[in-house]
Amino acid sequence: MASRKKHSVRRVLYVAIPAAILGSILFFHYQHTVRAFGPEQPIYFSHRVHAGVKEISCNFCHPFAERSRNPGIPEMEKCFYCHKHVIPTHPQIVKERQHYENNDPVQWKKVYYVPDHVKFMHKPHIKWGGLECAECHGEVKTMDRLQSVDFQMKFCITCHRQREAQLDCWLACHH
Ligand code: HEC
Ligand code: HEC
Ligand code: HEC
Ligand code: HEC
Repeated sequence: MASRKKHSVRRVLYVAIPAAILGSILFFHYQHTVRAFGPEQPIYFSHRVHAGVKEISCNFCHPFAERSRNPGIPEMEKCFYCHKHVIPTHPQIVKERQHYENNDPVQWKKVYYVPDHVKFMHKPHIKWGGLECAECHGEVKTMDRLQSVDFQMKFCITCHRQREAQLDCWLACHH
């Protein structure tokens, strides 16, 4: 009797332990996968499809990046340059059109952050520094959903040091 019981306890452990291990692997993997992507957007918009497969230039949708502080998230109207004709009955396009017709701008969630006190400007980086978007934003054109990035001061400083860009402005330039 006693040995039968021991057996079944052992059998339970044989199943339970690997299951617990597998479970925790999946749990961490899942957490990791989730964190690797940014927030879900109100309209499913894929940079991979637009900038990658269809090779639409970043500048077409974000035309102010090298000129002003605000790179410009495309206004709704811009989507319909194309989507008046391209897949106009796609459910996400229908949703976008409802926003447009109701004059209810899509609330895109921000994915790139800098600390509050930092005023980041694209202009010196793109126009004078000649940097590619990907050097800071990663390979956006391969992403369906953009990855969240918290820019820490270290990121700014490491690159500035490598490129011998200005370092002594850290107290003066952002206020
Ligand atoms: C310069 C043209 C152009 C602009 C501007 C454009 N799109 Fe597209 N979009 C396309 C093309 C081309 C496709 C691929 C259509 C196909 O698969 O047949 C597409 C596909 C899509 C899809 C379907 C994605 C999928 O998984 O197949 C969605 C949703 C979409 N676009 C949303 C938008 C939104 C929202 C905007 C505005 C922020 C926008 N598009 C701006 C050309 C454009
Ligand atoms: C067809 C239009 C379109 C094209 C082309 C496009 N984008 Fe975007 N981009 C968007 C839209 C719409 C959003 C807001 C939704 C989102 O974050 O996915 C966005 C968001 C972004 C953001 C996130 C801003 C933030 O913090 O919320 C970055 C960075 C960006 N795009 C970079 C790029 C780069 C780099 C390219 C070229 C490789 C590119 N985009 C091409 C439409 C476009
Ligand atoms: C030197 C690094 C760097 C480069 C190069 C760069 N960006 Fe950015 N980008 C940032 C940072 C940092 C932010 C967040 C700024 C903020 O929140 O004020 C940002 C934000 C954005 C946003 C979101 C702005 C918003 O209103 O939320 C878009 C769109 C964008 N970048 C597009 C581009 C495009 C397109 C290019 C290439 C032409 C580019 N960026 C090149 C660092 C960079
Ligand atoms: C990938 C490299 C890279 C990253 C990341 C980067 N920078 Fe820069 N930055 C440069 C280069 C290169 C220049 C110099 C452009 C020139 O004048 O030739 C520059 C110039 C500047 C300037 C203008 C300085 C002047 O001469 O007036 C400011 C301000 C600045 N960066 C702030 C930032 C901040 C804030 C961040 C982080 C959020 C950041 N940078 C991240 C490469 C980078």
